[in-house]
Amino acid sequence: MTARGKFITLEGVDGAGKSTHLAWLVDFLRRRGRTVVQTREPGGTPLGEKLRGLLLSEPMHLETEALLMFAARREHLERVIWPALERGDWVVCDRFTDASFAYQGGGRGLSLEKLQQLETWVQGGFQPDLTLLFDLPVEIAMQRMAGAARQLDRFEQEKTDFHERVRAAYLARARQMPERIKVVDARLSCAQIQKQLEDVFATI
Ligand code: TYD
Repeated sequence: MTARGKFITLEGVDGAGKSTHLAWLVDFLRRRGRTVVQTREPGGTPLGEKLRGLLLSEPMHLETEALLMFAARREHLERVIWPALERGDWVVCDRFTDASFAYQGGGRGLSLEKLQQLETWVQGGFQPDLTLLFDLPVEIAMQRMAGAARQLDRFEQEKTDFHERVRAAYLARARQMPERIKVVDARLSCAQIQKQLEDVFATI
């Protein structure tokens, strides 16, 4: 019987450089012989990608936002994540439920209780095997975003205090779940971060 694959998620405030590290990580795992499914949230399925388009552009009530995030997640788990893990593939996902606790919870102020209800409904006790939280001070993250050549989305356009609350919520979760969530200092150079990631994956 094939062993179940591992579910790895990447998190962090907007502008933390997560996308660069994700590409490196997927390549690193493939070089180590893993079959890797690279995916993202919100999104990862045809329906999820449509919901992503709405979530990143349309103004909406904060509970609608949370419900749509979890609706996209339900589809993603059922159609992509769980089948891949069953096949023995590794799944590397750009954001997952920790982002809902950080953005809808910390950023927007949705209660922890409602988020926990949605989490239990949509995923039961299922959790990532490992989460890498790319952390850096919000002012640096915002400078990086300001330098981006593209149009900023609805979350990226939020003010500094929103991003501060998101960061604080992420760090609070990392303190609550230190076994699962590893904090990576995103101010370090790419080479230094890659070294840290190699060390983390040496134990998995
Ligand atoms: P992001 O992952 O940063 O994509 P890109 O690198 O292409 O900008 O964008 C997704 C946005 O969605 C990000 O700002 C955080 C937000 N988000 C939530 O608010 N809640 C969630 O549950 C998830 C998965 C994402």
